[in-house]
Amino acid sequence: MKRRLCLVTGASAGIGAEFARQYAALGWNLSLTARRADRLDALAAELTAAYGVEVHVFAEDLADPSAPARLVAALEGKGLEVDGLVNNAGYGLPGTFFSTRWEDQAAFLQVLYTAPVELTHRLLPGMAARGFGRIINVASLAGYAAGSAGHTLYASVKSGLIKFSESIEAECAALGHTDIHCTALCPGFTWSEFHDVNGTRETTNKMPKWLWMEAAPVVRAGIEAVNRGKPVVVPGAANKLMATLTRILPEPWGRAMVRAQSSRYRKL
Ligand SMILES: NC(=O)c1ccc[n+]([C@@H]2O[C@H](COP(=O)([O-])OP(=O)(O)OC[C@H]3O[C@@H](n4cnc5c(N)ncnc54)[C@H](OP(=O)(O)O)[C@@H]3O)[C@@H](O)[C@H]2O)c1
Repeated sequence: MKRRLCLVTGASAGIGAEFARQYAALGWNLSLTARRADRLDALAAELTAAYGVEVHVFAEDLADPSAPARLVAALEGKGLEVDGLVNNAGYGLPGTFFSTRWEDQAAFLQVLYTAPVELTHRLLPGMAARGFGRIINVASLAGYAAGSAGHTLYASVKSGLIKFSESIEAECAALGHTDIHCTALCPGFTWSEFHDVNGTRETTNKMPKWLWMEAAPVVRAGIEAVNRGKPVVVPGAANKLMATLTRILPEPWGRAMVRAQSSRYRKL
């Protein structure tokens, strides 16, 4: 039987590399993308040796607005049909909204929001024609609340990805695409390179260890949820509790907490 194929963005590290490992272990072929081609090549060799799957590497910078179209054209050029899409590439911008350049905010929006939406838009018709599709948008627990200074746009973007995933899941069901599912995966603190990239490792290392999860159970929760047609999943008991609290606490309390967090930056 023909193997299914999953495209994973941001597969060179952390949660994306774990998605590649778990889909390979399930027998799926893979297309991997990120900027660091050497890392992707090493992962491709590891997965082919371990699971006998085909892995294609496409090095791209998703901050380039033409990257999603180029990526889809490259997949089509190789005759590859995408059954699964994991929109995972992402990062946090260091600094406040005031202190960052517009160019950096625009690139952030491109990588974390526009590229996932465009890839979904370009790949859904093929999934519909073949009657099967799995789309996982890696959002965040941060999407449940307003962002404190330094995470200003992060919360908005992740909240948007949650709503987008819920909408795609509903639209597919309404149009009769019963075996196409879309899920927003909302991790809390997860061990990866994320906090090294945004320069908060020193601070986050002081946080209680029970708040943290390994990438493996986070990814497992995402794959299980999309197979069950669940539009949103929050992995881990502590994260589930925090997601529930954001819904039941009075809104002014949540805003006061965000203001308190933001006040750490008031001298910037
Ligand atoms: N770790 C957490 O605590 C946490 C919590 C909630 C949500 N998340 C979300 O989980 C996702 C994965 O993050 P992670 O924790 O696994 O972080 P990570 O270890 O730093 O991995 C981030 C991945 O994104 C890729 N990426 C970054 N900028 C890119 C660009 N311009 N073009 C293409 N690829 C790019 C990186 O590849 P290259 O550098 O090679 O391009 C890397 O593969 C993100 O969307 C993040 O927002 C993380």
